[in-house]
Amino acid sequence: MKPLIPVLTLSSLTNIEELANLLSSHGLSCIEITLRTPEALSAIKQLSQHPDLEVWAGSVRTPEQAQQALESGASRLVSPGYTPGLLAEVIALNACWLPGVQTISEVMQLAEHGFVQQKFFPAQAAGGLPWLKAIQGPIPEVSFCPSGGIDMLDVGHFLHQSNVFALALSKLVPSDCLSEDKLAALDKKLGMRLHHLREIEHEL
Ligand code: 3PG
Repeated sequence: MKPLIPVLTLSSLTNIEELANLLSSHGLSCIEITLRTPEALSAIKQLSQHPDLEVWAGSVRTPEQAQQALESGASRLVSPGYTPGLLAEVIALNACWLPGVQTISEVMQLAEHGFVQQKFFPAQAAGGLPWLKAIQGPIPEVSFCPSGGIDMLDVGHFLHQSNVFALALSKLVPSDCLSEDKLAALDKKLGMRLHHLREIEHEL
């Protein structure tokens, strides 16, 4: 089964351990925390202590953010795009990185540097499944984690696509789910949601 990655933008650390346990109990082994709030690095620090959870840092745009995210325990950096400065820093840090792309030239340029797993972003607006299908013939060595604007109903279709290795989306786990009530509600819903998504992925 390909990884399905909840993307969260957290402005609180309340019940963060409970969230980590909940995700893990539903078989989700990876989470992306965007660097869009002051709490993000602390959240990465805490979540990365969980033995069964891989923590990615999302929205990494600067060399400084790349360093901070790694120091906080992120196992992978995810960026909406890339700049020469960020590219150089990530190479210098020898970091595991998912750079964002939306054009063929960007895909080729990053592949030249050895980044053969890339984030296709914003996936829905930039061409969606037809883009992924079209790029597979000419650039078979690159695979993608599509993200951005993907609806739950389309998740199975994206996961089924062979040059997709994972999918990241914010709709799976709401970023404001950290209260006890909301975590309990999420616990109930998540199992059904995941079951349904996996069924579609395999039935296609
Ligand atoms: C992001 O940039 O927040 C991620 O790519 C997720 O996008 P989404 O909120 O459209 O799922």
